[in-house]
This record gives sequence, structure tokens and C-alpha cells, in this order.
Amino acid sequence: MTKWYDNAIIYQVYPRSFQDSNNDGLGDLRGVIQRLDYIKALGVNTIWLNPVFTSPQVDNGYDVSNYYTIDPKFGDMATMTELIDKAHALGLHVLLDFVLNHTSDKHPWFQDALKSPNSLFRDYYIWEKTTNGLPPDNWGSFFGGSVWAEHPSEPGSYYFHLFDQHMPDLNWKNPEVREAMIEVAKFWVEKGVDGLRLDAFIHIAKGNLHQNYPTDSDEPVVAEPMFANLPNVVTYLQEFVQELRKINPNLYILGEGASADPNLAALYTRPVAGSALCDAIVSFRNLPKQARPQTKVEQQWHLRQQEKLDLAALPDSIVTWQTVLAQTTEPVLYFSNHDMPRMATVYADPEAQEQSLKTLATMLYLQKGAPIIYYGEELGLTNVELTRFAAFQDNTVAALKDQVPAAEQSAVLKDLSQTHKTAARQVMPWDDTPNQGFSKHEPWLRVKGKQTSVAEQEQDSDSVLNFYRSLLRLKQTALFMKGDFCLLNSPAKTIVFTRELNGKVGLVLTNLSAQSVAVSLPDLSLGKPELAVGHWQITDSELQLAPWSSAVFMTEHFDN
Ligand code: NOJ
Repeated sequence: MTKWYDNAIIYQVYPRSFQDSNNDGLGDLRGVIQRLDYIKALGVNTIWLNPVFTSPQVDNGYDVSNYYTIDPKFGDMATMTELIDKAHALGLHVLLDFVLNHTSDKHPWFQDALKSPNSLFRDYYIWEKTTNGLPPDNWGSFFGGSVWAEHPSEPGSYYFHLFDQHMPDLNWKNPEVREAMIEVAKFWVEKGVDGLRLDAFIHIAKGNLHQNYPTDSDEPVVAEPMFANLPNVVTYLQEFVQELRKINPNLYILGEGASADPNLAALYTRPVAGSALCDAIVSFRNLPKQARPQTKVEQQWHLRQQEKLDLAALPDSIVTWQTVLAQTTEPVLYFSNHDMPRMATVYADPEAQEQSLKTLATMLYLQKGAPIIYYGEELGLTNVELTRFAAFQDNTVAALKDQVPAAEQSAVLKDLSQTHKTAARQVMPWDDTPNQGFSKHEPWLRVKGKQTSVAEQEQDSDSVLNFYRSLLRLKQTALFMKGDFCLLNSPAKTIVFTRELNGKVGLVLTNLSAQSVAVSLPDLSLGKPELAVGHWQITDSELQLAPWSSAVFMTEHFDN
């Protein structure tokens, strides 16, 4: 049976950066309401909101202290209800970011758990004791340091945190925790949200907490096999999802499986007892990446290396994701999100910035699967330059301030701005007024210089924004939503594929390089392309594609 989300085209809204309605420098839900028409006109049908629950904002809302309330910074429950209603009236679905692996340390459960080992909520979290003055194991947190933090007044007693130490992990072994999280989720499903993005769900089961992870290092190590994708994830999730689907059988569950490969994504989307755990999986392994040669600054200060698309590995990756998921779901098609540098910074060709972005989008979003467009991507926004170490809001980066000599700080900041997630979370540039129409107040993230804006791009028929609108119009058609996918053999650094439905074929040809290329064509008369980027020309049985050019033709079945 067809579900609404079989045709999902998702727009990711990072609420603190989208539109500030009360001029405090921070985006909010009323701001999102004000921009619903813009979102609708882009051609998407679903909005994913990053977390808006009450939170001390240690990790921009991923540290929840009350799941039943909206953080006053973003609005209130009435505004949230209004947003859901108004989105629905426009035919837009709403997905909430649901943080279930951990809470904030300010959550009343954790506050109570801290009070005494006998607290009724102690076992809501993961505690271990040691007598040697060391944490129970050598596992490292994703945010640096050990996964263990010592109780402030109980020496030798440690709680577990996979992310920041202010984000203790919930103990999903405890049936009361499982029930409590189901109750929270039910509350939101009953409020009318259409789906949940399950944050970090692959970590809700942990391995033996006293098993050190084999390493030569004395430092804690991120030990994924000990806390990712363990079999109990499926057990816990099954119960959670089944309960929610009793309320809304069409609830869309988008699981964030950062390290999931195609087989794991298939496992999580396979029906168990008649119902899939997740409907789709967002993996950070969706596109093959390759480190660029290290810059001097990266080498000297051990900074993260910049990455690019691994074009040689791309065809294999596309075919593998499409094939492995074919029986359970469809791939999630995205370039970047709030945890990554922006697509235009990582993948675009600086010599052909806009054209390369349009061709990349054609290559990815016309494949079979659900696109997720990170707000501002449709303008071709790049990472912004942050000029203070503190602006990155990252302890590891903050520590650099005291290490890097003053003369070198600007080079380090420039490099960091290319790779860091915070530099990809800038406020949305709506127009050319001060603060670019985001707010009358200085935005929460100060950036150097102005960015291209929605207003500017609306005037330009050739803008990235107008291209995205045309591309998504094509994506919305049954052919590009439902059609079978087939990758064709094509020269290096090109991606060529068909989508086929009821004898109708969409032929997509993309040149992802700065060189012209000739792609051999099937023996068909192709006519004018439905959509094109750059320059193309048909000669004999070949399509000549200029650098970073692409073309989409409508045709009929052919043997490839
Ligand atoms: C994944 C989210 O996308 C990221 O921003 C967050 O820091 C972690 N989960 C922890 O919730």
C-alpha cells in the first residue's frame, strides 16, 4: 500500500538559524511559520525540524531537559501546534527530531538519579563503580574524552555519556525507560506530527561495560563495536515503533544510523512481525568521500582533513545502496546536514561553483530515494568564516586558542571554518538588509561578510534557487518518485542512469568533472532535454557534455 512518505522530499530546518520572529538573534517556530510558503514553493513536501524541546542547549537542543515542552527560546506549545496545522494545510508533513539515546543532565530524571543510589530514577541511566580511580573501560565519547563521568559527590561512581558529559545516556535495558520514551513519543504523535527522526538510535544498546576496546593508545577510543548496532537495538526499537504505529499507522520513522552501511540500513528497514522498524535510514556513509591532500595548517595543528567526493567509488556506492535497499526501502539522498560542512564547501568545484552544485543535485536527487535538502543548500550556501575559536562552540576547538600563536590563528580559523559543522549552521540569508532579513538583532552566529540571499536569487532565472525549484518539480513526478533505477556504464567522473515506469524512461546524464566528456547514447531520438545544466550537444550517437554539465531526457524503453 502506498504511504505518503513514499514520495517524501524533505527540507531540513535548523530552527535557531532559519528565521527570527521576535528579534532576539535566535530563530524560532513563529519564524518557521512565516516561511512556510517559501518552503512549499521550493517543491518539498516534508519538513524535518531539529530539536525544539526544552533544553539547556549544551548541544543545540540534542540535550533535552523536558520532552513535553517547547524551549521558550523557540516558542511554546501553541506555536508548535499552529506550525503543525499550518504546515498540514499547505500539504507539508512535519518530522520532529526525537532524541532517545540520552537526555540532558538537567532532566529531572537525571537530577533525581544524582541524589542517591536509591533514587527511583538511578537505573534510568547507566552507572558503574570502580575502586581503582579509573573509569570502567577505555571507550571514548564522540565529543572527546571518556564516555564515563564521575558522580560529583560519589567518588568511584561513574555515569555513561556517548556525547557531551551533560548528556547522560538512558539505560534502555530498563523496561521503565523504554515505557517512558514510548509515552513521550506517543504524546507527539497524538499532537499530529507525521514522523520522527530517531536521533542516534543505533546506540541505545551497549556491550559489556567492562570490556576494554583493544588499542595501543592510553587515551579513550571511540569503540563503535561496543556501542553501535548491537542486536538489542532491534529488540528495543521494535516495541517502541509498534506502540506508536498503533496510534498512527502512517507514522514515518527516519532513523539516524550515522555509521550504518547498506546492510544495516536494510536490517533496520526490514519488516519485523509485519511492521518495519524504520522507514528509512540516514547514514553518514551515503556518499563515498576522500580526504583532500592535507594543508600545512591541518598537519601542524592536527586539524580534520577537508574531504571531497570520491568519484571513482561513487558508481559502486550508488548501485550498492540502491540494490541492497530495493526490497525494504529507498536510500535517503542528501549531501549535508547540521553535523557536516556544507555541500558547496565540500563537493563544489570553486571554478564552476553554481554549475557544479546544480549538476551534483541533478545526479543525486533524481535517483530513487528521498531527498533531504539542508536549509540554504538551495541557495548554494557555503560554510561561513568564523573568526573566533569560541564561535565554534566546541571544546576541542576552544582548546586550540591557547595553543596556536596569534600570528597563525587566522589561518587555523579559516581552515576550521571549511570543515566544522558550526560553520554550516549560519542564519538563513533572506534578503540584503542588515542581518539579511533573519533578524533585527545580531544573529546568534556572527559571520564575516554577506551571503547570497533568497531575494537576490529570486530575481535571477538562472540562480541555484530557481534551478532547485525546477529540479524538484521533476522529482515530484511519478517517474522520478517511483520509477525503477538503473545505473548505466559511463566514462569516469560521469554518472548516467535511467528511471523507468510503465514504459516511460527518464535518462539522466551528469558530468561531474572539469573536463568535457562524450557519453554514448542509446539508439533513440531524444529531442530536447527536460532539464539541463551547462552545455550539451548530441553528435551521432554521443552526448557531448561540457565540464559540470548535465541533461535529463524523457524517452521510451531501450536495451542498455
Ligand atoms: C546526532 C545529531 O545529529 C547531532 O547533532 C547530535 O550532536 C548527536 N546526535 C547527539 O544527539
